[in-house]
Amino acid sequence: MSNTATLATLSGSDAAADPNWWRQASVYQIYPRSFSDSNGDGIGDIKGITAKVPYLKALGIDAVWLSPFYPSALADGGYDVDDYRDVDPKLGNLADFDEMSAALHAAGIKLIADIVPNHSSNRHEWFKEALASPRGSDARERYIFRDGKGENGEIPPSDWESVFGGPAWERITEPDGTPGQWYMHIFAKEQPDLNWSNREIRDDFLKTLRFWSDRGVDGFRVDVAHALTKDLTEPLLSKLELSEANTGTDGFIDGSHPFWDRDEVHEIYVEWREVFNEYNPPRTAVAEAWVHASRRARYASPQGLGQAFNFDLLQADFDADEFREIITRNLAEATESGASSTWVFSNHDVVRHATRYGLPQGGGKHAKGQDGKGWLLAGAPAEELDIELGLRRARAATLLMLALPGSAYLYQGEELGLQEVGEIPDSERQDPTFFRNKGVEIGRDGCRVPLPWETEGSSFGFGAGRAHLPQPEWFGRYAVAAQDGQEGSTLEFYRKALKLRRELQASEELEWVENSDAGVLHFRRHDGWQSVTNFGSDAVDLPAGEVLISSGPLDGGRLPGNTTVWLR
Ligand code: GLC
Ligand code: CA
Repeated sequence: MSNTATLATLSGSDAAADPNWWRQASVYQIYPRSFSDSNGDGIGDIKGITAKVPYLKALGIDAVWLSPFYPSALADGGYDVDDYRDVDPKLGNLADFDEMSAALHAAGIKLIADIVPNHSSNRHEWFKEALASPRGSDARERYIFRDGKGENGEIPPSDWESVFGGPAWERITEPDGTPGQWYMHIFAKEQPDLNWSNREIRDDFLKTLRFWSDRGVDGFRVDVAHALTKDLTEPLLSKLELSEANTGTDGFIDGSHPFWDRDEVHEIYVEWREVFNEYNPPRTAVAEAWVHASRRARYASPQGLGQAFNFDLLQADFDADEFREIITRNLAEATESGASSTWVFSNHDVVRHATRYGLPQGGGKHAKGQDGKGWLLAGAPAEELDIELGLRRARAATLLMLALPGSAYLYQGEELGLQEVGEIPDSERQDPTFFRNKGVEIGRDGCRVPLPWETEGSSFGFGAGRAHLPQPEWFGRYAVAAQDGQEGSTLEFYRKALKLRRELQASEELEWVENSDAGVLHFRRHDGWQSVTNFGSDAVDLPAGEVLISSGPLDGGRLPGNTTVWLR
């Protein structure tokens, strides 16, 4: 298969203005509160990121995606936004943001901001006004308020459950002190859903997009992009009726679900695209949309957001056939939509892939929702976890990903081979998933523990104080300082792979090379660049060619199991 779009190799200001910069970018996700703490209060901050720009430059990434940095009570790690056009005072201020943006740009790194349009926080001015205003008021119309059922409105409007567990409706107390209406929240109760059929909401978000674009933000990652528009015409379908019609993703294949993946959501993104195109180069966007594969291209359309995440590899087992099917299908989808594909193994919502791959059964089902425990499984019993195997496979998978056409999304800490942290005491957990499920689901804190920069000392060099989530004693082994300049370390492996990817990458074609060994995936890019992965456990013969890099040691002319090599 081939895609004729080419990524010109440009330099200096030409590269900065290249409208296609995102098509094959390596994007590094920063979870700001857990990256680097400049003032010792235990919370990572904007100045902390600025101080690490040389580290990011040496890593060889093209862009940083910053998870939410807006004012927030942190009911959901910052995805509960109090004010869309400001910086959380715990993280800094707008001047710090501008300084960080300038430092990143000076290092040739683009900046992608996370935007959270489906819900605000319950501390947003709009929500406070809604609570203080009467039923039917304009202020209530910015959210989704309904009267309850039952004699006194004491029963929620439907039996829907929130993604984090518990009911998706919360009852309020009216300004006169009486029990009142209910508001909808797909996520935590601190995250009331906005009413996107209200023109005021739409206009305000256009203003927000311009606000950050004017400040030099190059693109946006759109949180829960598939939930914004809703059809809540009565009678509302029950939970059971909805689950019977479910297609295994957050939505129906025909777009008729009351809130997931409705067709009219794309009208919003057409308007956003017009704003993006006011800028030079146009601002980019990537949708977080857990929709049926057949409906993903709509989000990635050039008249819409332009790119959409696929979480297929992230949810797959370490298996050659599964990987090949996913890669083939997604490259075809990308050709259809005109976008480039996206690849990702780890982010702030799932168990780190170095850990998943060390768990029995290859790990795919442990990523999200397929282990019967909702979001994820973490803290697996130590005896079930093979750390060495997990890291070996994670490095092999990552090297394969970095050879694929499309954008590669990396999550902070994976370049250190960092493992999920299982041993967080209940009393220190923060994720609403944990609380709303009464501890049945362990939540996502284990991949959000602040990074180790030094092998020892207070919070392993994260900051001068204690980190906001406890770091385990073994963290020092993974520290940047322990790996910097060390041949064979995961950090040096990432640096080398990212550098090579930048040098080698040109056009977007990929051609499979048929290989007689089962469990081996071999493909060719342009100019003789090839990637070969041995998913099995026994070594196989290495195809001919100059070895550019391998994810683990090679065995003479043989490619060991769980290893990827690039050849030319
Ligand atoms: C997205 C985010 C996740 C957040 C949720 C609600 O899935 O990635 O972290 O909890 O949206 O905003
Ligand atoms: Ca701080």
